[in-house]
Amino acid sequence: MKENNSRRQFLRNTALAGLSLGLINTGSKANSRQPLTVLGACNPTTLDYYGQGPFYTADAPDIIDNLLAGLAEPGTRLVISGRVQTLDCTATIANTIIDIWHANAAGAYDNTGFNLRGKTLSNAEGFYIFETVLPGKYLNGASYRPSHIHFKITPPGFATLTTQLYFEGDTDIPGDAAASITTGTFDATNRIIPLIENGAGKLEGTWDIAINGDGEVGIADLHTDKGLIYSASPNPFTNQIAVHYGVFQSAHVKLKVINLQGNVVATLADAKMAPGKFQTTWTTTNEIPNGHYFLTLQINDLQVHYVKIVKV
Ligand SMILES: [Fe+2]
Repeated sequence: MKENNSRRQFLRNTALAGLSLGLINTGSKANSRQPLTVLGACNPTTLDYYGQGPFYTADAPDIIDNLLAGLAEPGTRLVISGRVQTLDCTATIANTIIDIWHANAAGAYDNTGFNLRGKTLSNAEGFYIFETVLPGKYLNGASYRPSHIHFKITPPGFATLTTQLYFEGDTDIPGDAAASITTGTFDATNRIIPLIENGAGKLEGTWDIAINGDGEVGIADLHTDKGLIYSASPNPFTNQIAVHYGVFQSAHVKLKVINLQGNVVATLADAKMAPGKFQTTWTTTNEIPNGHYFLTLQINDLQVHYVKIVKV
């Protein structure tokens, strides 16, 4: 299938470019003036203090079309994506089983069937993505647990990590025995992620997983000695995003915008260029849906850098 091949190639390229998805967090603050965090901080994914909790059901079905929640499921749509990588964040891990379950928007688990329960795999380059609804809260004793998603993450041939993901700004985090832990084995700090609301009414978040496993594609194989995207701002953006980038050798330079399906939706540069710093602006049309895109910089057909951008 051509599409699959092109997506695979794209994801391979992005993995080779190796920019930590941590950059997305920078973007989510809509502050392009923060320093570029190439490779970002590497934080091994921690266990959750509450472990799997009482509502796990084994043998959940595979997630189809990345949809954990059917389109009729009540609630605010939520897209979570990221990369599975080795503990030292030097390589991605493919084929990791990501077993996901969470409460519905009303705070209730399906304990008889498999609604809002499913498994997906990290792809050949370690990426995963799924769409669901924002979990509702439920009482745990006298207080509500913060909104959370449960995960069992199993890299091929390695132990399963059981943990939970929380969302920045949730007022029930400080009072939660698990989500409020900020040190040690159950430190939840890096499992509380920001969510961006896009114009289509979906929340989007990025969560990179660092876990014990065999790495395949080297993240450390950066080519930022050849070129670099300095900034893309504002990010998130609505109609226009300004891109500053540098080219460090005479080369054929391509600056493209690629959607999550791996299709090129805009070409911002495609020319032989001398070394220097450049700026361009992408003005979107109505045909460009809101959501996540990758801005990719290619030097002589080698993808040297990418940045995730969000149209809202
Ligand atoms: Fe739970």
